[in-house]
Amino acid sequence: MSTLVVVGTQWGDEGKGKIVDLLTEYADVIVRFQGGNNAGHTLVVDGEKFIFHLIPSGILNDDKLCLIGNGIVIDPSVFIQELEGLASRGRPVTADRLRLSPNAHLIMPYHKALDHAGEAAKAEGKKLGTTGRGIGPCYEDKIVRNGIKVADLLDPALFREKLEDNVKEKNFYLTKLLNADPLDPETIYGEFQDYAERLAPFIDNVSVLIDDALHKGKNVLFEGAQGTQLDIDHGTYPFVTSSNTVAGAACCGAGIGPSKIDKVMGICKAYTTRVGAGPFPTELEDAVGDHLQEKGAEFGSTTGRRRRCGWLDGVVLRDAVRINGLDGLVITKLDVLSGLGQLNICTEYDISGTLHTFMPANIREVESIRPIYRTLSGWDEDLSQMRSFDDLPEKAKDYLKIIEDMAEIPIVLISVGPSREQTIFLKNPFE
Ligand code: GDP
Ligand code: IMO
Ligand code: MG
Repeated sequence: MSTLVVVGTQWGDEGKGKIVDLLTEYADVIVRFQGGNNAGHTLVVDGEKFIFHLIPSGILNDDKLCLIGNGIVIDPSVFIQELEGLASRGRPVTADRLRLSPNAHLIMPYHKALDHAGEAAKAEGKKLGTTGRGIGPCYEDKIVRNGIKVADLLDPALFREKLEDNVKEKNFYLTKLLNADPLDPETIYGEFQDYAERLAPFIDNVSVLIDDALHKGKNVLFEGAQGTQLDIDHGTYPFVTSSNTVAGAACCGAGIGPSKIDKVMGICKAYTTRVGAGPFPTELEDAVGDHLQEKGAEFGSTTGRRRRCGWLDGVVLRDAVRINGLDGLVITKLDVLSGLGQLNICTEYDISGTLHTFMPANIREVESIRPIYRTLSGWDEDLSQMRSFDDLPEKAKDYLKIIEDMAEIPIVLISVGPSREQTIFLKNPFE
């Protein structure tokens, strides 16, 4: 029996989907525990590309159980679309392989409307660049205790009561404050009664299922979404998402105690990307940034937006090691760095002449960071066909060594391309 939590160490899109799919071979149960369909996790299996927003990235392995925990906010239409998408590609999923917590909160149409209208109403420079999926407003309702849970779908009278109260309040905000159209509760009610029928077979106690699996000696893999710097508490607030994205969230978001977590692994892209607004100390708005964006095909998996690109940030990495309690690192997209001549790694931040070794809390300070770089020579070789550490050019090995020295934890896997095979295994992260 073993449990492993996988989290992003940067601003999301580190390649968590690929790595979770890969590690599913060693797991029996795969659990999403926070976020919602703001996530976009890409898998390339036998040349076929899949992007999952809600369903755990273990789902392509037929004999594994996938769970969506209470910490998730779920848009039922997206859940159903993902199921239909899989079925249409010859991979139907039934409730014996996928369960959904009744304590997860529902993303309602008014959450999406508020997300869109709220962003539109914000002044330039204040917009967060959300994914527009209703994530923030849904978590907001959960915390102020107005939320509607998956369990409520199964109780039509309770669902109607909560829906009517909410729509009354939200319509006030939408029309009076945000200049947007009101929503009709009856239409929403009808739509969600259909969803209730579709979702019902999947609803189950995720905490109990995990506990049962552990008692039977099974391995459980927890799949984080977003990344450490998008965490509501530890990220570059307010330019963050509305959930805790760090490893500790696996406990609250799935219903498992911290003493049951064995290992935590961080996924770190060999450079940095960010999609949406907010400070990005090592951002490159030049030809090198364009190289990373183009060679790395850095477009958002959820919104299709062009991702901002920059050098690897050691301050961000060390923050992730500490906040998540990382035991090991996976370095992804190392192949993208080939052909750059020189490479920079940020080692510290200079803020108004003072050196900082961790991300400051004040957003104005974060915005004024001047990164201090260590420069090293790059390599030209194509890494995408390399399958062993010894194959890598010496300069790439040096780059990895610097990362390990900064993080003070070992690299356990190296990814050199989007497909399963394009991976260099150094150590089984479950062991
Ligand atoms: P996630 O949100 O962390 O799962 O990451 P995304 O799927 O949003 O973005 C990662 C992108 O990089 C996807 O298009 C992956 O197919 C791709 N990818 C993953 N690992 C590698 C790699 O090692 N090299 C290259 N070139 N692409 C990769
Ligand atoms: P994965 O799991 C990258 C970003 C959005 C925006 C901010 C808030 O694929 O790594 P939200 O819709 O959550 O309120 O948006 O967070 N964001 C992500 N960026 N990867 C993600 O997920 C993200 N999920 C949210 O772009 O800046
Ligand atoms: Mg993504």
